[in-house]
Amino acid sequence: MERVVEIDKVLFENEYEKSLRPNTWEDYIGQDKIKRNLKVFIEAANKREECLDHALFFGPPGLGKTTLAYIIANEMNANIKMTAAPMIEKSGDLAAILTNLEEGEILFIDEIHRLSPAIEEILYPAMEDFRLDIIIGSGPAAQTIKIDLPRFTLIGATTRAGMISAPLRDRFGMHFRLQFYEKSELAQIITKASSKLSKVCLDDGAFEIARRSRGTPRIALRLLKRVRDFADVANEEEITKKRCEYALIELGVNDLGFDELDIKYLELLLEAKSRALGLSTIAAALSEDEGTIEDVIEPYLLANGYIQRTARGRIASTKCYELFKLTPLESMKIGGLFEG
Ligand SMILES: Nc1ncnc2c1ncn2[C@@H]1O[C@H](COP(=O)(O)OP(=O)(O)OP(=O)(O)O)[C@@H](O)[C@H]1O
Ligand SMILES: [Mg+2]
Repeated sequence: MERVVEIDKVLFENEYEKSLRPNTWEDYIGQDKIKRNLKVFIEAANKREECLDHALFFGPPGLGKTTLAYIIANEMNANIKMTAAPMIEKSGDLAAILTNLEEGEILFIDEIHRLSPAIEEILYPAMEDFRLDIIIGSGPAAQTIKIDLPRFTLIGATTRAGMISAPLRDRFGMHFRLQFYEKSELAQIITKASSKLSKVCLDDGAFEIARRSRGTPRIALRLLKRVRDFADVANEEEITKKRCEYALIELGVNDLGFDELDIKYLELLLEAKSRALGLSTIAAALSEDEGTIEDVIEPYLLANGYIQRTARGRIASTKCYELFKLTPLESMKIGGLFEG
């Protein structure tokens, strides 16, 4: 089943998203702290006519990591080369990418936690000393050849903060963790995007979509696209709140942006009562892979306090019980599992 609020990783992005991608700070809404910091670091690097330090972005899919990389390139007036860890299979692949870089260029590696240890080893001297160490031959006859690389900026992005190796993480001079967006920020993103699409979305309509976008711009833009279809078919000039409500119900997206999979997930936890469920149990029950559950479903539910992760597994929070109009068991409250 295709999820309307699907936020899986997209390695090859579609034209629709590309056309709506902001390329200046002004159009990049929210993430204010990251923006403030980056502006300073970029200005400083530009003043010194140096490359920007290597930067690492963490955060669930669709929050704007790739977009930030493009904005940095724009602000640094630098060329950007994009790749993703799964595409770098052999050490030769990475060596070729690095030796083809030009002075001042930006290399963006998506899903950087998926680099193999052998490839990471090659990246370390490249990041630290802009040097490539190539080993030729093996055993006692092995020789290392050192090749100087141009100075470049590596931007890494990952949806799994916990899975990136410590030595790799430490070689990035800047770390930024992207946050889920406020509804008002998403509404602004929707309004801007709809005017780019030449279909005005009224404020209360934008807010209606924002409310159901799980704090994620990619979902907001996707819902906007669908709602626009409904408005076009109904021959409406503008996107109204009423049309949004109608379309979103038709799409099976509930009031909080939850879709069937989220609801099934939460119901599973509620049925387990106070028993914590492990990731593999949940994955088996929902017939989903563990990665999807951890990267896509859980971050939003955790950030909004619908679930809690304990050493023993996942449990539903009081807020989740209230959402489903259930009362948490007294014994569970006493057990201290739930915060008020
Ligand atoms: N702060 C923002 N302001 C406006 N639009 C945004 C913002 N962040 C993201 N977007 C929009 O959301 C879409 C998804 O963002 P992006 O591709 O940068 O996410 P990502 O974090 O790289 O996701 P993934 O982990 O799947 O690669 C983009 O097309 C962009 O138009
Ligand atoms: Mg991306």
